[in-house]
Amino acid sequence: MRKFFVLLGSIFALSIQAQTIDVTFSGEPGRVVDQKVFFLTEAQTKNFPEILESYNQASNGYIKDVMLHKEFTGKNGETLSLDLIAGTEQIVLMGVSQAQPLSPVDLQNLGGKIAAELSATSDNVNATILVNNLDTRDRTAAAHIAYGYHLRAYHFDKYKSDKDKVISRLTFVTNNTDANTTKYNEDLRYVAQGVHMARDMAWEPGKTIYPASFVEEVKAAFKDLDNIDIEVLGVQQMERLDMGALLGVGHGSIHDPKLLIIEYKGGNTGSAPLVLAGKGITFDTGGTSIKPNSGMWAMKSDLSGAAAVAGTMYALASRGERANVIGVMPLAENMPGSKAIRPGDVLETMKGTTIEIISTDAEGRLILADAVYYAQQQYNPKMLVNIATLTGSAARALSDEYAALVTRDFAFSTEIMAVGKSAGEHVWPLPLHPNHFDQLQSNIADIKNSGVGNPGASIGAAVVGTFVDEELPWVHLDIAGVDWLDKATDTAPKGAHGWGVRFMDQLVREYK
Ligand code: BES
Ligand code: ZN
Ligand code: MN
Repeated sequence: MRKFFVLLGSIFALSIQAQTIDVTFSGEPGRVVDQKVFFLTEAQTKNFPEILESYNQASNGYIKDVMLHKEFTGKNGETLSLDLIAGTEQIVLMGVSQAQPLSPVDLQNLGGKIAAELSATSDNVNATILVNNLDTRDRTAAAHIAYGYHLRAYHFDKYKSDKDKVISRLTFVTNNTDANTTKYNEDLRYVAQGVHMARDMAWEPGKTIYPASFVEEVKAAFKDLDNIDIEVLGVQQMERLDMGALLGVGHGSIHDPKLLIIEYKGGNTGSAPLVLAGKGITFDTGGTSIKPNSGMWAMKSDLSGAAAVAGTMYALASRGERANVIGVMPLAENMPGSKAIRPGDVLETMKGTTIEIISTDAEGRLILADAVYYAQQQYNPKMLVNIATLTGSAARALSDEYAALVTRDFAFSTEIMAVGKSAGEHVWPLPLHPNHFDQLQSNIADIKNSGVGNPGASIGAAVVGTFVDEELPWVHLDIAGVDWLDKATDTAPKGAHGWGVRFMDQLVREYK
């Protein structure tokens, strides 16, 4: 029986593990006392709020003793966790700064720290987070804390026999319960769900996520959403459109490439859309230019750009953003095989520009070339964003902290850096110089797919940029460093980061 299901599983592929957490905003602490979280400013560590003092007394002063012993002073983000105390399963004290109003991202980071600190000792645990003593000017502070919690409360245990325990019910005790409920339930939680969706896709092995199953997954996830149209171009349609680059990359795999398009029409009819295009290499072996063995498993996440686009579209449509946005996801598996393209081959793109293949491992720029050109022809967008795990070069330059940002205009780059700051996902600019385009000159074709080497991230951007109208505001994001975390951040556990959903969601809010 079990075998049967495993088999079915591989035919019908994956299904996204929706991480549902039940969040309530309430004016009262309630009676359930499984787990409690208190925010404390430095002053409050000396003079406990009444409710915390009652727990302190119930534990014969143990909370204060441990606080002194561990030198907990209430610095912003400092945490102290006490298990099995005063009739509760766990009490967490969290330091919080009172010096300046906390920004939404600060609050989200605090929420993430709470998720990291609370540990479920069994399923069905109730946690109460007391936000009402938090002095902030933001009426929806609790919603931002809940959102940060939601972002961080993620695990991928689909293939584990022993499932992780989860905290299923969270109560945020706060003022402005209505404003917080609306902000979280009708907005922020969908962004968190979009991030989780993107992470699920990046964690999923290449065996189960390939172009066709990616498409099915998206169709299933979007089926109940309004104002959504999904279009899928298969091999024949791509042949008719002369998408030789996307088709070429897919040649070595038994899984046919696809071009997935999610249209979201939440804005005025006829108003030009934003296009978000994401690289969806469901596994990158390097192709004929095969990669070394070490670490190759991680190339299952080479679809992170497409996954971030899908997650963003999910968030936008679910929260009913009033904008027209098109998500474009070129999907292919980069495999060596008897039909695979070779170094030296020449591919003809939809634009007509021919590309000499120097390395079949520089495949992301190839699939994006056809995808961004198609999107411009088809949708005449007012802005184009493309997002991709494009180059090791970007990862070496910027690591886990920043995604690489390339635009044609430095002033625009600084504006986009500000978007990253308010999204909690940061970008840092890398240059695009005419020499980077010169390096693409080929002896046999119009351009080649990689230059002599440095600077790799800029050269990758130049290849994509060759297919982007120079007049169009264009944001190129290279997420090869940030898509997979070596260690947890406040709002993301280690591993698949889901980077780009928060960023693109914010970008749409500001540039729609
Ligand atoms: N998917 C890789 C880039 C990558 C590397 C992502 C490490 C995440 C972590 C991309 O397709 C690739 O192989 N890029 C090559 C380009 C080179 C052949 C010009 C690279 O960066 O080495
Ligand atoms: Zn790749
Ligand atoms: Mn590659």
